[in-house]
Amino acid sequence: MSIRDSDVQRVREATDLVALIGRRVSLKRVGSRHVGLCPFHTEKTPSFSVNGAEGFYHCFGCKASGDAITFVRETEHLDFADAVEQLAAAANIELTYDAPGAQRANQRRKELLDLLERAARFYHERLMSSPDAGEARAYLRRRGYDRETVVKWRLGYAPPLWDALCQHLGAPADKLAAAGLAYADPASDFFRDRVMFPICDAGGRVVSFAGRVLPRSGEPPPKGPKYKNTAGTAVYDKSRVLYGLHLAKQAARSTERIVVCEGHTDVIGCDLAGTSEAVATCGTALTKHHAELLSRSAKRIVLAFDADAAGQTAAERVHQWEREFGLDIFVAALPPGSDPGDLAASDPPALRRALNEARPLHAFRAERILQRAELDSPSGRDRAADEAAEVFAVYPPEILLEGDLAPIADRIPMDVEKFRDRVDAARQRLTDRTASPTPDAYDTPPPPEPDEGYFDDAYPGDSWEPPEARSPITREPKVHSVERSVAAREQALLEAAASADSDAMSLIVPQLFSLPEFREAYFRVVGEPDWRDRLNSDVPDRERLAQTAAGVSELREGEALDRAARALHRHVQETIQLIGDGAEIPGAASDPQQSEIERLRLRHGWLVWLRDRETELLNPDLRVGAAEAVAEWLRAS
Ligand code: UTP
Ligand code: MN
Repeated sequence: MSIRDSDVQRVREATDLVALIGRRVSLKRVGSRHVGLCPFHTEKTPSFSVNGAEGFYHCFGCKASGDAITFVRETEHLDFADAVEQLAAAANIELTYDAPGAQRANQRRKELLDLLERAARFYHERLMSSPDAGEARAYLRRRGYDRETVVKWRLGYAPPLWDALCQHLGAPADKLAAAGLAYADPASDFFRDRVMFPICDAGGRVVSFAGRVLPRSGEPPPKGPKYKNTAGTAVYDKSRVLYGLHLAKQAARSTERIVVCEGHTDVIGCDLAGTSEAVATCGTALTKHHAELLSRSAKRIVLAFDADAAGQTAAERVHQWEREFGLDIFVAALPPGSDPGDLAASDPPALRRALNEARPLHAFRAERILQRAELDSPSGRDRAADEAAEVFAVYPPEILLEGDLAPIADRIPMDVEKFRDRVDAARQRLTDRTASPTPDAYDTPPPPEPDEGYFDDAYPGDSWEPPEARSPITREPKVHSVERSVAAREQALLEAAASADSDAMSLIVPQLFSLPEFREAYFRVVGEPDWRDRLNSDVPDRERLAQTAAGVSELREGEALDRAARALHRHVQETIQLIGDGAEIPGAASDPQQSEIERLRLRHGWLVWLRDRETELLNPDLRVGAAEAVAEWLRAS
């Protein structure tokens, strides 16, 4: 999707840069310029200068500079298109997009965002003033949330009615369902009798909700999951959203760190305890996308997870993120069995201390290994040394300081140089295992768009003829030589989606399911943390499914990913076949104005793109990148 250049220019010209920046920084006029304290670094004397006439700003201290769009991007952590859209809305400028498909998709997203925003207001107003929300208000007061807190976090209450929200919004059921707010058939509210936490994207737009069950005094705990979450929608992907980020990123500018918790109430608790730079994953493991998002606001990341969860953080992957995004990841040692939300209520100084004394991830993990080790026998010490060495082995030798290794070596006890040798040996084992090139080394190109000239050079002029679609059957893929029934395949896929492997989960998209019951089970598995119970209780006629999914605890490492990649391969094959047979290309932007030859070229571009991915999906070194690209495309289409 690209916004037309002339429109971008209009937005720049229409924006009053001094007024825009003046909302964040107090500016003083000096000659033809305005100066103030730089918002991008901490300073006491102003070196930040704004040239309103030319539309540029520059900081003589930290050298930050740019125009209105850059300013919005940097301060709101938005991408280019989002920043332009925000400024265009403020200036009342209607934007045109170059790819019409993208414009349509954008229009759809806007509609969903509008519904979500109105839903947030509805829930909030119900909480603030509706008679049926008395219990909810009492519950929040018991948790120590005053009016200011409830307003700041826009908390709400979903009434215990069948379709109060649907009625209020008055939108078609399929739209409400697409926004994750309602069930489509029969049209009814998705959230009922729950305390509502609106979840915003980095720009502060409401993209989804979490609804917490309301405990009533003197009654047994209500049935159903403690938290109910919006499933994935066109505007919400839990692997890319962090609760509270839009507020935390402001605070992170001065604290230069972000605290990552597990729950919404942890974030609010941290805020009440004076730590406003806290975010939460929304019922999912931390993903690479999260890591990237965090890196835009701070480099120092403090994980405030339950001790077990933190210890199990996939350290090798996290370490890759540390390198890739320049992060330093720390772990706060919380008292066993407590979460930041509890601690914030019972002992705020203890919470602040735990966060401030967080230790590097490797030290934290090594420490935990030693706590469980049998250090009183030589063989126990030997094993512990090797296990602890593996924790450090993912780091390159030059960054491991004496101070990192010595405390661990002392505890074993073992001479620190000997321990360093163990680490080197463990690193060697690791290198041997992963000698093949990493998938990340290869950049998967995005799918073709009509205006990209994707194949202009290869097929110049009108002499171009569409090539015949090659039958995919001529290249029997090695990874699944055994033909399986659709049901068996989708069952395997469902199991993979239910596994704990968040990478695999992010590759398994709803489009891969063709059988309705599997599709439904999939939505439950990804959308509801207590899906096992729900499958068992809500869908009695689908016991088979429930058993399938409930039987899954953990697939062998990598197997979930394998299944996802295989399913995507199969899907790509089928799509190639369909395109060859003349079907529309899902997700391809098509323009009614397009000439026939352009249309054929676009189709060819797609065939080339899909065949490249098809081949890569069979290559163990390239398939993760390819699978991500294909999943991305399916999600967008
Ligand atoms: P917790 O059970 O630790 O809840 O789940 P919490 O955040 O401490 O909430 P309170 O303080 O009891 O109100 C941590 C996170 O896991 C997800 C939610 O995102 C929750 O914030 N979760 C938990 C669910 O999505 N569904 C559930 O049923 C339970
Ligand atoms: Mn809690």
